[in-house]
Amino acid sequence: MDLDLEDRTIKRSDTTTIKLAVGEPDATMIPYDLLSKATHELFNDKISTQQSTHWVYAEDEGNPDLRHHIVNFLHHTCRIATLSYENIFITNGVSAILDQLCTMFLRAGDTVLVECPSYLYALSIFRDHHLHIISYETDDDGMIIDSKFITDVLERAKPKMIYVVPTFQNPSGFTMSHHRRELLVQLSLKYHFLIVADEVYHFLDYSKKEPNGNGHHYNEKLVEHPKSFAAYHAAGTVIALQSFSKLLTPSLRLGFACASHEHVNAMARYGLIHSGGGASAFTSGIVDRILVQGSLKRFIDEKLCVEYSKRMNVMYDELMRTFGEQYITCRRPTGGYFLWVKFNDTAIDCDQLLVIAQKHGVSFKPGRLFAHDPESKARLANCLRLCIAIADCDQLREGCLRLKQAFEEYKNVVLY
Ligand SMILES: Cc1ncc(COP(=O)(O)O)c(C=O)c1O
Repeated sequence: MDLDLEDRTIKRSDTTTIKLAVGEPDATMIPYDLLSKATHELFNDKISTQQSTHWVYAEDEGNPDLRHHIVNFLHHTCRIATLSYENIFITNGVSAILDQLCTMFLRAGDTVLVECPSYLYALSIFRDHHLHIISYETDDDGMIIDSKFITDVLERAKPKMIYVVPTFQNPSGFTMSHHRRELLVQLSLKYHFLIVADEVYHFLDYSKKEPNGNGHHYNEKLVEHPKSFAAYHAAGTVIALQSFSKLLTPSLRLGFACASHEHVNAMARYGLIHSGGGASAFTSGIVDRILVQGSLKRFIDEKLCVEYSKRMNVMYDELMRTFGEQYITCRRPTGGYFLWVKFNDTAIDCDQLLVIAQKHGVSFKPGRLFAHDPESKARLANCLRLCIAIADCDQLREGCLRLKQAFEEYKNVVLY
């Protein structure tokens, strides 16, 4: 059985452990003021209460205002000029739409190709649908699809879907290169598979920022990340998924998919949507106000990227200082939530290390959780994932220290 000690009930009640296992923002990163102001406006706006858009079942594709404003947001942030609101389908978050896509487009026994390592709960969703999961090798530029092995796999396994987290990947932090994105789209056209690109961390990009002198204010740099998979919607084989969970708060349960009109229509024609209406009309109204006032972009740039960038640097520096290259290999991601640590000694078992780490008051996610088959799990056994969003800089330093203490005990008790 997988050692997933992140039981949510235990997680909330334990206040002493530094929970670097948890992929959530801490309370200081949730914009209560923006959410409260937008909610207040929604209740007090006469037009909004008369129009009743936010108080009844939403249109099947989702709130039309929100769809329009998402398009503006993507024009502005990702410079995608080709999108129209008809390419946007509002969802209850990435998890919900992933499950819907599996129901709609796949059948038990169909093959899905995933990155090794991959987002652990996407694997759970694929298992629930009894899909045949193949973990495919990655490097610093994402899935290694520019090798002859990919054609072997595509011809032999005939995947119906390839699931990727292309930018600031969970768990490993890598970003798929532009070249591989283009190639993946070409391959999807040739081999007729669906690309589901889970882009929940796309906007948490710290590379566009550089300190302007005092270390607190940041300037836009002219560095463009590989483009969002939303830019490939016209290919007809790509569905790019976004979520407000990492940008505002997970409790909104709101996100959106960018895809061809045909895919948007198909997603809207789903029985569950017909019955319950499009994704939450109420939270759509709240998020729409935050978007249209430009507050989301400001919050991402001025709060999330500034603070998370600082945390990422602190955690990376602290890891390298306490463990050093002698013990670990780790790259510093330029965005997202996670640091992926690989112990150089392949005998180290991070499931066992976690048991000791929890006694020392720190948690992490052991590498095995991020793969499906036994062989891939074995390859990730000496790896672990740390989250920088859930703790402030001081807690991250302390967490790192506790991890080192746990590692020393592990070496003495288990290894030697
Ligand atoms: C890669 C990835 N996809 C999806 C999710 C969950 O997204 P949502 O809250 O929109 O369901 C997470 C949350 O950790 C994630 O890391």
